[in-house]
Amino acid sequence: MSVIYQSEALKASAKKIVEIGDALLILGDSLEIMPTLGKVDAVVTDPPYGINLKPPRKLTESIKGDGSIEAKKLWRNALEAIMPLLSKDTAHLFWTGWSETWTKELLVEYFTVKSCIVWAKNVWGIGYYTRPQHEFAWYCHLGKPPIPDSPDSDLWQVPRVQAPIHSCEKPVMLIDRALRLVGGYSILDPFMGSGTTGVACMNLGRKFIGIEIEEKYFDIACKRIDQAQRQEQLFKPPKMQQESLL
Ligand SMILES: C[S@@+](CC[C@H](N)C(=O)[O-])C[C@H]1O[C@@H](n2cnc3c(N)ncnc32)[C@H](O)[C@@H]1O
Repeated sequence: MSVIYQSEALKASAKKIVEIGDALLILGDSLEIMPTLGKVDAVVTDPPYGINLKPPRKLTESIKGDGSIEAKKLWRNALEAIMPLLSKDTAHLFWTGWSETWTKELLVEYFTVKSCIVWAKNVWGIGYYTRPQHEFAWYCHLGKPPIPDSPDSDLWQVPRVQAPIHSCEKPVMLIDRALRLVGGYSILDPFMGSGTTGVACMNLGRKFIGIEIEEKYFDIACKRIDQAQRQEQLFKPPKMQQESLL
């Protein structure tokens, strides 16, 4: 178990810090924020893929850091900042697209890449020849994490979010599965977007640190995580109060 704390260095690098129960949410550049954090048990994250995503019909917006050269630099610098935060014998998960083969080449410099999870969606994307219906995640080990009670498949069939607020929003069910796979108690997502990893953490009673550079998405993440935390509290059994014996 790791301690989440707010150092002076963190306060100086963050534009905003919001604590909601077991979640610490930080508005700012994760490359500047991560060096100020303490240890975490696992990283579950969905960085910009480097594909210059232009959402169709302008339903959602393009994301920061998504240019191909930009993203390569961002992933490298992010990994350099992530590694000092990790303990030995832990597992982690990084989302990516099938064409970004460089992400695996980069990750093997830091981790043992154990498997490629395929997220199979219920609907197709756009395209003239083939239409994309899946995304990848690299499941990575640092050292030898404990073997889970039962292994998971590497094909996850989970429906897409129907009306996403964020152009890359992942379904909570998908991240729930990722969290169960990596284990650990305190989870870091340095590219939190609309806060899906945080919502899934609250549902599972994990601690969460999320960083987002865009204020608009940061505010959405705060709202979603606050709501998830309240719901979790609602379904928690009430604390037993011992009656006075006198
Ligand atoms: C692929 S999206 C994550 C979407 C998220 N999984 C969700 O469900 O909403 C990546 C996010 O990283 C953010 N980002 C890009 N560069 C960043 C940086 N240097 N520090 C923090 N966040 C950054 C983008 O603004 C974007 O919201």
